[in-house]
Amino acid sequence: MARLSVSWCFSLLQIFGFLAIGCSAREEIGIYELKQGNLSVKLTNYGAHIISLVVPDKHGKLGDVVLGYDTIKEYKNDSSSFGATVGRVGNRISGAQFTLNGTLYKLIANDGKNTLHGGPKGFSKVVWTVKKYSPEGQTPHVVFAYHSVDGEQGFPGDLRVIVVYKLLGDNKMSINMKAKALKKATPVNLINHAYWNLGGHDSGDILSEEIQIFGSHYTPVDAQLIPTGKVVTVKGTPYDFLRPRTVGSMFSKLTAGYDINYAIDGSAEQKLTKAAIVHDKKSGRVMEISTNQPGVQFYTSNTLYQKGKGGFTYKPHAALCLETQGFSDSVNHPNFPSQIVNPGESYNHYMLFKFSNL
Ligand SMILES: *[C@@H]1O[C@H](CO)[C@@H](O)[C@H](O)[C@H]1NC(C)=O
Ligand SMILES: *[C@@H]1O[C@H](CO)[C@@H](O)[C@H](O)[C@H]1NC(C)=O
Ligand SMILES: *[C@@H]1O[C@H](CO)[C@@H](O)[C@H](O)[C@H]1NC(C)=O
Repeated sequence: MARLSVSWCFSLLQIFGFLAIGCSAREEIGIYELKQGNLSVKLTNYGAHIISLVVPDKHGKLGDVVLGYDTIKEYKNDSSSFGATVGRVGNRISGAQFTLNGTLYKLIANDGKNTLHGGPKGFSKVVWTVKKYSPEGQTPHVVFAYHSVDGEQGFPGDLRVIVVYKLLGDNKMSINMKAKALKKATPVNLINHAYWNLGGHDSGDILSEEIQIFGSHYTPVDAQLIPTGKVVTVKGTPYDFLRPRTVGSMFSKLTAGYDINYAIDGSAEQKLTKAAIVHDKKSGRVMEISTNQPGVQFYTSNTLYQKGKGGFTYKPHAALCLETQGFSDSVNHPNFPSQIVNPGESYNHYMLFKFSNL
């Protein structure tokens, strides 16, 4: 069903180019599957979500390693951002406002007094246009596009966005999020919010999974999870994952688990840098994440309680998120790496996920 409307859209796009307005409004919500070797991923153009990602364990047994839902209806009602593409500015903006070139922009508060993941109707709550779907071949991929208008959720300027999901073979997947600011400068911070459980989405908690995070500094937060603006060393804190250890090994020193941004070591503009490695000893699955972004948010689903796929109830610590990103609340901290994209400039966030077994 979805494919019919997609090809109809394609012909319009070919004739009128990107200005074929009405096309995205007619776009139907569909599910798009990519398969290469033993890795398969299901995606939807509703919020450009990852619905499932299936990879083998050390015995060759396939398992779905991301949390999610069985129906699009549940994604529409979701408040956890399972597998979502969040934006225009993912993570938090304190006080739901920021000043850019002397103008104050007021957003919609949806997390206490602050804005989280772009606001109540951010990019994970809109229908994206399917620009390309190539399920076969060496590098199966799908391209989702979205045109965010000036003033949407309070943000300045039109922004043209695409997300490309691609399988590269050898159990590798890339996600590339690009955006172009058309007439006004705007902050942009697009994030993939997959909830990973390498033991399987319905296997229980991730406390015994081993993790290494390549960040020797992190950005401490206040009680509302807003960064103080400091960038401090992990040395001597429960945030130190420079050497691999289990997720739960220092939980007793924390109030609720992890929800914190790391500054990735060695990160530089547009340079692909290793952010983290997770290893689940029971299944043998290993996931390595690299990115060209300066930060990674480590979240251990601390308050999760949600019915998901197959009726399974996901409880606190049922998964971990490793959201590569610009730093949370960067627009209100001039010392953080800038997220401002000026008119005519582009934003480019690349993520590489490598799956293997040990
Ligand atoms: C897929 O998994 C099977 C069973 O473990 C293995 O024999 C095969 O080599 C794998 N295929 C690829 C392309 O990795
Ligand atoms: C919608 O989400 C809320 C909050 O997670 C949940 O309590 C409710 O059961 C959901 N409703 C449906 C129809 O899924
Ligand atoms: C905002 O200010 C910056 C730095 O002064 C400048 O480079 C940019 O062009 C300005 N953007 C707009 C839209 O005025």
